[in-house]
Amino acid sequence: MTKPFPQTMDFAGFNAPSRIEADIYDLVVEGELPAEIRGHWYRSIPDPQYPPKDGWDTFISGDGMVSLFRFEDGHVDFRQRYVMTERLKRDRAARRGLHGLYRNPYTDEPGFFGESRTASNTTPVFHAGRILAAKEDDRPYELDPNTLATIGPYDFGGALKSLTMTAHCRPDPETGELYFFGYEAGGLASREVAFCIADKTGKLIREEWFEAPFVSLIHDFAVTKEHVIFPLQPVSADLERLKSGGAHWVWDPDQGTQVGIMPRGGSVKDLRWFKGPPSSFFHFLNAYSDGDKVTVDVCASDMIVFPFIQEASGVVANPAEMGGRLARWSFDLSRNEDSWTETVLGPGGDMPRTADKDAMKDYEIAYYQTYDPRNGPPMVSGPVGAGFNTVIRLNVKTGAMKTLSLGPHVTVQEHIHIPSSQPRHEGWLAFVCDLHDENLSEVAVVEAEHLDRGPICRIKIPMRLRCQVHGTWVPAGALPGF
Ligand SMILES: [Fe+2]
Repeated sequence: MTKPFPQTMDFAGFNAPSRIEADIYDLVVEGELPAEIRGHWYRSIPDPQYPPKDGWDTFISGDGMVSLFRFEDGHVDFRQRYVMTERLKRDRAARRGLHGLYRNPYTDEPGFFGESRTASNTTPVFHAGRILAAKEDDRPYELDPNTLATIGPYDFGGALKSLTMTAHCRPDPETGELYFFGYEAGGLASREVAFCIADKTGKLIREEWFEAPFVSLIHDFAVTKEHVIFPLQPVSADLERLKSGGAHWVWDPDQGTQVGIMPRGGSVKDLRWFKGPPSSFFHFLNAYSDGDKVTVDVCASDMIVFPFIQEASGVVANPAEMGGRLARWSFDLSRNEDSWTETVLGPGGDMPRTADKDAMKDYEIAYYQTYDPRNGPPMVSGPVGAGFNTVIRLNVKTGAMKTLSLGPHVTVQEHIHIPSSQPRHEGWLAFVCDLHDENLSEVAVVEAEHLDRGPICRIKIPMRLRCQVHGTWVPAGALPGF
């Protein structure tokens, strides 16, 4: 037995840990699942094995769980396994949580300082036939793409020098290259950032380091056909604070927002830094270049949204005054100025996604999620508090918007986009729905172009699926042996 989990937002209700590894063959499907949808949908979920050592922790410290929906000929099979990290193995051996604060090893129990403590819980990155369970505080773990068995820590065959790798890699759909970076690349609270490229075979072909203006939480970055963009939000880390047992991250508005842009064919020595007012952002929808003009679309707000970082920073934020928006940042590299202009494309939200074919290029269609109070009261799911309850399809050229809500007591987890081979078919979105009244989950599949018409099918899950962070769709053709 283990002790009960604390009854806090991070561990209670729909956020209660699941800890269930499972295989479910042939899930019940209500409606018609198009046979063209063939492939694997991987999801990364923080799911703590043990209650927190100190009685309190954040949702996003939870041990990494990866689930797999296998879509084949109208059937769906489900599998879920823990990532067997060094952290989880240590805790299981002790039969209790040994790790302290989020990303602060100085608060751990003694005896393993300096060893990997990542929970590997953020994104299942697929590249060159491999599934890498990534979290930005360390290198990823490689998993078997079919069984989800943990193969072990992955460092590109010993080539990667960076101690960390982002959970937000940027694949170039045309070259097959994987663009990524690692921040705090040289160690805890270091300013070094590594910029890396793996070729389509998975070989690391480039790794260049630079020193960021400050230690920033660089959760995601953007890549166009011509440029690479490193956005630094004013959320900073400090080694002395960590040594004294403090929080890894605090909101640090004096740093402002700083954005580094380099030519994709150049080097980190060419980075040019732009400065703007403080804002917070985690995910970039898309970015593209047109000569000296660089366009970056981002889900932004005026303040960090994570309650545990707000608390550590001594700020009290009113959710209604966060200034959330889907923003377009326009940079003109021909001007001798270090600013950019912002326009608002749509309402606040997150989990932005385009079709893979549209990545890095001028585009029209965006999909993202928002919490709309008109569609129901706040329902807790995930690390921020209220889960999203509305999926948006936005034409960023015209502003035309379609939305979908599935009921006042249903929140939605991040969607994936599944392309179609049919001409002029926009493909599908699939996402896990949290059915709060039933304490169960189901997957909704909608036609991406007509998401406002509602699901064409629902895949029933006979258990509650804790909120994922990110997921990845891998079509059958990219999977060896499918
Ligand atoms: Fe993310």
